[in-house]
Amino acid sequence: MPPFTPDTPVGVLGAGAMGSGIAQVAAAAGHPVVVVDASTDALGRARDGVARALEREVERKRLDEGRAAEIVARIRFADLVGAGGMEPFAGCGLVIEAIVEQLGVKRDSFAALERAVGTDCVLATNTSSLSVSSIASACRSPERVLGVHFFNPAPVMPLVELVPGVATAPEVLAATRSLVDGWGKTTVVAADTPGFIVNRIARPFYGEALRMYEEGIADAPTIDWAMREIGGFRMGPFELMDFIGHDVNFTVTRSVFEAFFYDPRYRPSLTQQRLVEAGRLGKKTGRGFYDYRDGAARPGPRTDQALGEAIVERILAMLVNEAADAVLLRVATPADIDLAMTKGVNYPKGLLAWADELGAQRVLARLTALQDEYGEDRYRPSALLRRMAREGTRFWP
Ligand code: NAI
Repeated sequence: MPPFTPDTPVGVLGAGAMGSGIAQVAAAAGHPVVVVDASTDALGRARDGVARALEREVERKRLDEGRAAEIVARIRFADLVGAGGMEPFAGCGLVIEAIVEQLGVKRDSFAALERAVGTDCVLATNTSSLSVSSIASACRSPERVLGVHFFNPAPVMPLVELVPGVATAPEVLAATRSLVDGWGKTTVVAADTPGFIVNRIARPFYGEALRMYEEGIADAPTIDWAMREIGGFRMGPFELMDFIGHDVNFTVTRSVFEAFFYDPRYRPSLTQQRLVEAGRLGKKTGRGFYDYRDGAARPGPRTDQALGEAIVERILAMLVNEAADAVLLRVATPADIDLAMTKGVNYPKGLLAWADELGAQRVLARLTALQDEYGEDRYRPSALLRRMAREGTRFWP
């Protein structure tokens, strides 16, 4: 495989929210980019979207007009036509797929993609929740396939999770990592496991908040207040779920739960499912946990410090437990895990560094108390936390 250069042509399959953002990132780094989509409307929206995003950068004086025009001129938008329809990717050195999150559709697309590109072309999937190895196995050369998982919006969020599948060649991972690093992104390497790093470890941020809400321990504004004001998180779990959209958030939770063979630790919430069924998807539909319609009153939190601290400690213990288990099961290195949570979802600190501050014994004591109280496997402490508490060791030196 020849090394990537700044003028290696980059292809993007799928011109939705992610594909158009990824195209903008690659074009801003100097690559000629071709974007292909099955929908002409989507291509039009992507073209307008990239132009608008760059205009905003110009208005904010982060980019000059000439450079914005150069970036736009580097992106070509092409309809998916003909058998397979992947001809526009023929000269590309890298193609990143960002189409609908369905395994069968992605596998068919990778098989067609491989027929259209040269033998040296690296094929990447932006999947959030599917198995990279399964997508790669649709190709004759699965060693050239890997996951390159951007966060939304791709031009703004610094994190990219790189996910080698079972068959991915080490040199494909290494070359792609240095390419994406060169785009100014922060890359981490994650094992091909459900949710990779961020979407796995972040589950309790939502799940445990929903659980406390369901039990009536506190209402949404109080839990949000506690996580923001005491925990230091940028947004509370309920406002964040409302912002992401309950349909999207619930789908990710469900797919991680199913992919872990129904491990109760990841069990989705019925409360959230009902919101989805009721069409209260959050901000985008005007209602979720909060009411976003004009003139709607927003209830205030119960600003009780002791209650707030208990809320933060419970959610944090669950988050640290996930992070510790990800270390134990070698999903990623401790350094990459802390980097991923701070750069991918803006956590105020790395969870493992946080665990060191609190001490493994304290986190373990909280989890064990929850497990005793509820008798649920959901609260089982990671074997690594137990070991660390016993031996008095830390994640960071
Ligand atoms: P989207 O729905 O905005 O865009 C998908 C695009 O793919 C649409 O324009 C659609 O016309 C096109 N498409 C669907 N099937 C196609 C096919 N067979 N051939 C060619 N084009 C096809 O979706 P979004 O949000 O951009 O997600 C794309 C991928 O990125 C998914 O795998 C998703 O899981 C992943 N992802 C999404 C994130 C998000 O926050 N939206 C974050 C990170 C990854």
